[in-house]
Amino acid sequence: MNRRRFLQIAAGGAAAGLAPRLAFAQGAVRTLRAAPAEQFLVGAANPETSLWAYGGSVPGPELRFKQGERLRIEVENALPVDTTVHFHGIRLPNAMDGVPHLTQPPIAKDGGRFVYEFDLPDAGTYWYHPHLGSPEQVGRGLYGALVIEEREPPAVDRDLVWVLSDWRLDRAARITDDFMSFMDASHAGRIGNTVTVNGAVGETFAVRAGERIRLRLINASNARIYGLNFEGHEPWLIALDGHPVAPRKAERVVLGPAMRADLILDCTGEPGARHRVIDDFYQRRAYRMLDLHYAKEEPLRKAYGAVPPLPPNPVAQPDLSRAERHRIVFGGGMMGAMPSQRQHRGLFWTVNGKPVPEHDHRHAPILALARGKSYVLDLVNDTSWHHPIHLHGHVFRVLARNGKAVQGSEWGDTVLIDPDSRAEIAFVADNPGDWMFHCHILEHQASGMMAVVRVA
Ligand code: C2O
Ligand code: CU
Repeated sequence: MNRRRFLQIAAGGAAAGLAPRLAFAQGAVRTLRAAPAEQFLVGAANPETSLWAYGGSVPGPELRFKQGERLRIEVENALPVDTTVHFHGIRLPNAMDGVPHLTQPPIAKDGGRFVYEFDLPDAGTYWYHPHLGSPEQVGRGLYGALVIEEREPPAVDRDLVWVLSDWRLDRAARITDDFMSFMDASHAGRIGNTVTVNGAVGETFAVRAGERIRLRLINASNARIYGLNFEGHEPWLIALDGHPVAPRKAERVVLGPAMRADLILDCTGEPGARHRVIDDFYQRRAYRMLDLHYAKEEPLRKAYGAVPPLPPNPVAQPDLSRAERHRIVFGGGMMGAMPSQRQHRGLFWTVNGKPVPEHDHRHAPILALARGKSYVLDLVNDTSWHHPIHLHGHVFRVLARNGKAVQGSEWGDTVLIDPDSRAEIAFVADNPGDWMFHCHILEHQASGMMAVVRVA
């Protein structure tokens, strides 16, 4: 059954609600429990899906803090497997980074605990997920949003998160357990057949004419890339990976795995109208993700003010004139220079020629950087596949793609590099420690495409 068909069937069920998830009350003791759970993903007309979740449902609780606050969360592992939690995109101390065997021992299955505690220097949209056995753990539903509000957030009527994810379900809405199949790992990764928004197949998303919504998009999929079009609307892009960009109209919002975009969506449609949100990233596979459904009420307002830029985060500007340059080549995969399977069974990808098994850190770091110095990395995708490349503990500027300068200033922690393409990134190595540098297509990460960068 293809995904379209599944969505049509699901449409027969109860309309899947997209209510924003309850945030933890500020100051409350926070425990994040990872455990098996059951949830209706494709409407109540289909069976519930057995999955793994933080706090009992997917996505996990939306964690909201103010910029400058300190996060303190105790993770309890009630899963049948060891785990860790990585707070993606946060510039935190290395020991809090959630990378098993590199920054901490795994949190033991059946009751292990670990306390994560660190300051939140940057405002923006982030997320959390396991960093051990990620293809299966994320694929079964372990992820949630981490929103850090500006000290003075821009005025909007609603501030919402859409956690986008996909699942590979069978006809009984069960997750198929073919994780890390050769086909997925050596090609585009595990792309599911069912897309959900905030943990349910989306039918309608209720809006009111004249509303201004801040919409925080998070791609929590293992491998799926999204290309979103808001028909009849012109959303403003205001941040990427949590960091402000000069507001600009975004015709199509492309998000690789792990990437985030903050939009200002002005609801300029008529009362009672329906407008589709289409994902057309993959050629000839466009589908309707959901409809924006306008209430009949009178418009809240007729004219919208300009969209003000968000205040910048306190990230150091790399000194490009003095930066040291390095070239890093991502290779392998089907139709590429795959490592010999006799020598490297199950490893299909390489960084600078070397495949690294998931969390095998006997390999020397690929780069040893001097603390406080600026670096430009020329990232070369020498494969026939897309790769969202993520650096832990830092934020970088994307300087150029395929030698063409990026207009305006664009920051991020994950950069999507097209097949046979390049991207240049620059950053100040100001956070000491051993940091993961890997593809965020989780099947690629777990089959060779990961490395460690040391800042000393
Ligand atoms: Cu979101 Cu190393 O990962
Ligand atoms: Cu990849």
